[in-house]
Amino acid sequence: MDVLVVDHPLARARLTTMRDARTDNATFRAALHELTVMLVYEATRDAAVATDRVHTPVARTTGYRLANPPLLVPVLRAGLGMADEAHKLIPDAQMGFVGLARDEETLKPRPYMESLPADLANRPVFVLDPMLATGGSLVYAITLLTKRGASDVTAICALAAPEGLKRLEESGLPVRVVTASVDERLNDSGFIVPGLGDAGDRLYGAV
Ligand code: PRP
Repeated sequence: MDVLVVDHPLARARLTTMRDARTDNATFRAALHELTVMLVYEATRDAAVATDRVHTPVARTTGYRLANPPLLVPVLRAGLGMADEAHKLIPDAQMGFVGLARDEETLKPRPYMESLPADLANRPVFVLDPMLATGGSLVYAITLLTKRGASDVTAICALAAPEGLKRLEESGLPVRVVTASVDERLNDSGFIVPGLGDAGDRLYGAV
């Protein structure tokens, strides 16, 4: 499984803001927005392009656009903190939604929402979720996608734990991961260490 760690200094700076326990909700949201731009930028680096002729005010030249824009799938809630910025970069992308809440005892994802196109064959998919912890949520979400025919899935995460990456790899699902950091480990409560706490709570407040 391909794992691309975007360790650009500007990405590290945004991630540092997100990690800092003193960062308020609004600043946390802004840092995740900016980090998402960097992650999506790198995730599309090798995307197929279609060419066209474009008339500048001076001459004709070659123009470019994404040949096959990905379906964007934020995993609610926290993935919503990445959705608009990803959409701004890829304005002609369609968006689907998966709602999952991780049970704090069992750490298993509890699904509560699913809104996805029926046929995802031959369509790249970008799954947006700030956190890859045990990997249970992403395995669940990507399994939904592959049941609809998806075979080219990119998980875009601010942070990943080695345990979650291992689980994703062992699932055999067709996925690559783009993240700003692979952290040290999970603690006994299933939180990434050093991590940033609970991304959903830090974006939107505790529920
Ligand atoms: C968090 C996070 C991921 C998931 C990661 O969401 O945003 O979706 O947990 O954990 P996992 O890899 O162990 O499955 P949470 O369930 O807390 O919901 P929220 O986004 O609504 O806060």
